[in-house]
Amino acid sequence: MPHDVTLIATIAASFVLAFVFGFLANRVGLPPLVGYLVAGVAMGPFTPGFVADAGLAGQLAEIGVILLMFGVGLHFSLADLLAVRWVAIPGALGQIGIATAMGTGVAMLFGWSFGGSLVLGLSLSVASTVVLLRALEDRNAVATPSGRIAVGWLIVEDLAMVLALVLLPAFAELLGGRVDAAHATGDHGLAFTLGVTLAKVAAFIAVVMIVGPRVLPWILRQVARTGSRELFTLSVLAMAVGIAFGSAALFGVSFALGAFFAGVVLSESDLSHRAAANSLPLQDAFAVLFFVSVGMLFDPNVLVQEPWMVASVLGLILIGKSLVALAIVLLLGYPISAALTASAALAQIGEFSFILAGLGVSYQLLPATGLSIVLAGALLSITLNPLVFALVDGLIAFVRSRPRLAGRLEQARAARFDRLEAELERARQKLEEKAAAHRSLSPQELVERFPLFSGLSAEQREALVFQFHPRPAEPGERIIRTGDKADAVYFISSGEVEVSVKGRRVRLGPGDFFGEMALLSGERRSADVTALSYTQLLALTQRDFRAFLRRFPDIRQHIVERANQRSEMDRAGAGPDGAEQPA
Ligand code: CMP
Repeated sequence: MPHDVTLIATIAASFVLAFVFGFLANRVGLPPLVGYLVAGVAMGPFTPGFVADAGLAGQLAEIGVILLMFGVGLHFSLADLLAVRWVAIPGALGQIGIATAMGTGVAMLFGWSFGGSLVLGLSLSVASTVVLLRALEDRNAVATPSGRIAVGWLIVEDLAMVLALVLLPAFAELLGGRVDAAHATGDHGLAFTLGVTLAKVAAFIAVVMIVGPRVLPWILRQVARTGSRELFTLSVLAMAVGIAFGSAALFGVSFALGAFFAGVVLSESDLSHRAAANSLPLQDAFAVLFFVSVGMLFDPNVLVQEPWMVASVLGLILIGKSLVALAIVLLLGYPISAALTASAALAQIGEFSFILAGLGVSYQLLPATGLSIVLAGALLSITLNPLVFALVDGLIAFVRSRPRLAGRLEQARAARFDRLEAELERARQKLEEKAAAHRSLSPQELVERFPLFSGLSAEQREALVFQFHPRPAEPGERIIRTGDKADAVYFISSGEVEVSVKGRRVRLGPGDFFGEMALLSGERRSADVTALSYTQLLALTQRDFRAFLRRFPDIRQHIVERANQRSEMDRAGAGPDGAEQPA
């Protein structure tokens, strides 16, 4: 070949083989995902024929994970995460603890060292985000409370694994492994390393949650205004991949976590649906590469050499972990259907497991076969996952068909589930309200909301919409402060504000305006104005307002009259304007 085309060859082979095997799998009634894994095995180094570049495939798969987690973030909000925290945190930590202990025990029975057994146990304790999401998507369950629980649970697991990955080098020598200079933690000791890691993760979350909401939705809105679809898609991709990479480089968190938080931040924007739709095709394509790259690493020989070990590992993933998850969710008082769904969703292992096992091998904690065993466990558990779900569906149907069983395990526990559902619903509504407050008006809507402008021609309305600056305000936000210099007048498009002057309070709602008095008189602001709910204001700058009044004398007269009424009322200290309430 004329020049190096390894990357293209890898992508081409992955897509073509994944498509062929995925299609075949579908024909014989298996999920396409099994076909992707087989495609990977076919192009891996352990089977004859074409061998693709595993390193490149791994990196491409990483992009798949980034886009996928970004997508989850887009459909997830912080409020969701908080709503499920009382299941997700104890669930994830409990499961990691118990599953690690079980895995360690099993490996030690097979004569492995404690360090190696521990790494194996840890690898088996975390589930794969990619697999979980695919399963939930196939069942249309991402947005259901059970789906939210499973995703929240996984986020906690991911966070815990970030810690585990950073701490492994620090513990490796203690556990009998060997760490080269590049990975050594230095002489600072464990507490220091732990402290630095926690501080970095905390700094990362603080930066993303504080800076992100101020900057990212704003950028997206500016790009949306250009009207270029291409630029919009590009900006979404740039944010997803850029933030994932940047947060990994700066804060040492995983790509997946960085991308997830980028998505969460953007989910607060009203453009999030468009962002999700634009990144979906790429997400799908790269997620396929994830499965192909898993298949490529797999050495089928391990099935012959270590059949018992593989079987035990698989049993632990499918049965051990499921029972632990089931027990935890039931103990927390949720209905059995939620518990079963969560345990099925988590009865597999994936990306974090390979990374951990790979690291274990490089520190000489885990024997080389350890990685193969983990891979075998992943491959088999991922393939069998649809079956596990089918089994769970059967179990749920069985319970529901027995009135006494259903009463004890479902209905009696429904209250807690309903509460969670209500909380998730409230979070969703709040988000929608907030997103609506960010939307700017069309000329048509302008007149509908502001009868004041009904005398304008279509063209004049268009020009006015253009001059208005959308200005969202959050509940409690002070928009105008008494005594400040005036720079703009505000029209309320949605939401409610409260004017407070000399201890009296007046509420103003959609269609009304405020901030005109100081602009007309040239004096300072006469009152405090505070948003009462998520409010969308349209601001007109002083200059535009003056030009506007000159052009439309009728509207000017109306506004001047209102201003005079208001100032008289304020001087008198009483009078009806809006819904007045004594302070
Ligand atoms: P301005 O003085 O520019 O800033 C504060 C605004 O509060 C003021 O303009 C009016 O728009 C508004 N405001 C003041 N008094 C009243 C009132 N009595 N009723 C309604 N709005 C008022």
